[in-house]
Amino acid sequence: MKARLQPVLGEMRYVVSLLTLMMVILLRVTPGTAVAQQEEVVAAGKREFHGHCAVCHGLGGKGESVMTTLNLLTVKPTDLTQLGKRHKGQFPFWQVYRIIDGREEVKGHGSRDMPIWGDVFTEQEGGTLADETRGIGRTLAIIHYIQSIQEK
Ligand code: HEC
Repeated sequence: MKARLQPVLGEMRYVVSLLTLMMVILLRVTPGTAVAQQEEVVAAGKREFHGHCAVCHGLGGKGESVMTTLNLLTVKPTDLTQLGKRHKGQFPFWQVYRIIDGREEVKGHGSRDMPIWGDVFTEQEGGTLADETRGIGRTLAIIHYIQSIQEK
């Protein structure tokens, strides 16, 4: 019995050391990959921002835009680069989410000058639950982009 187990154990040890080696390689590669992934998310958010938000908030998010130049908005779009500063250096991630999504009123006044993007994205994607998830992904990417343009 013991004699028959011996080769199996040897093989297992070989597999374990191979797995360890692979993990070491993976762990070494991870930091670079993580940064690349982060940049990918921010870049995707930037694309969405330019497509849907820049018309009012401006390309850099500072609030000077086509719409303000033409005087088409009753309320001036918020300078989105100051959100962190306004909240004692803490970027209000989930508050921004609720504002974009439409579940949080932007300010006290009745009608929103700021469109409700939660519905727009879900509708654009198709309207099913999986589509809603894709819409959420787009919203999150935008917020990561906005977070990346915060002025200190
Ligand atoms: C039609 C113009 C318009 C578009 C398009 C638009 N916004 Fe806005 N947004 C506004 C205005 C105007 C305000 C200020 C609203 C207020 O004070 O009532 C605002 C406010 C905001 C705020 C609130 C900031 C605060 O004061 O806390 C956030 C966040 C925001 N917008 C993000 C976005 C994002 C992200 C997009 C794109 C998905 C977008 N907006 C598209 C007009 C727009």
